Amino acid sequence: MKSIVVLISGSGSNLQAIIDACSSGFIPGKVSAVISNKANAYGLVRANEAGISTQVLSHKNYASRDKYDLALTDAIEQHKPDLVILAGFMRILTPAFVQHFNGRLLNIHPSLLPKYQGLTTHQRAIDAGDSEHGCSVHFVTEQLDGGPVILQAKVPVFADDDAQSLAERVHEQEHRIYPLVVRWFCQNRLQQHSDQAWLDGNLLAANGYA
Ligand code: GAR
Repeated sequence: MKSIVVLISGSGSNLQAIIDACSSGFIPGKVSAVISNKANAYGLVRANEAGISTQVLSHKNYASRDKYDLALTDAIEQHKPDLVILAGFMRILTPAFVQHFNGRLLNIHPSLLPKYQGLTTHQRAIDAGDSEHGCSVHFVTEQLDGGPVILQAKVPVFADDDAQSLAERVHEQEHRIYPLVVRWFCQNRLQQHSDQAWLDGNLLAANGYA
């Protein structure tokens, strides 16, 4: 049974999807702890309701990004995780942090990477007139939103979409693909080798498993 630590900053709907998938046995692992950089993150309530230990580690209490990420590394390592999951953790991570967790650090991003790295992805997809949009799960490397993609899901963009309606459609897909990727990892089927993601001994293509 793999130990998973989840980092959040907000609602935690992806956290909930992972918790549910662990409870049902879909993921052969358990969420050992949830750590938030924001005290009011609703995901903390979700974790408490599931009986999972929580911790708030506010970046405001640290003088630099380096110091915060060192404290965060320590807090995570208390739980000896096999896997660390970013689930709406809205912080840029230092190279030292990323290197420390190399090969066991996953993120979900609300776009079809490499498109729309960074913020406001849904509005940018609408503004560009894209007919499709989506989400990506990837290993985290030092390049922001640039690590090897493992799995993507696509959704249509409709003419009357606004950022909110499009975000909801993407969110539904996030809740499908993140637990699936975590399942693969916990089944020892998924590995990162430098800038590549491998599943079942096969190199995944640039846009992940399709
Ligand atoms: C999700 O849409 C996730 O893709 C995004 O934050 C949201 C968190 O929702 N992450 C990023 O934008 C990271 N760059 P949640 O708190 O309900 O899981």
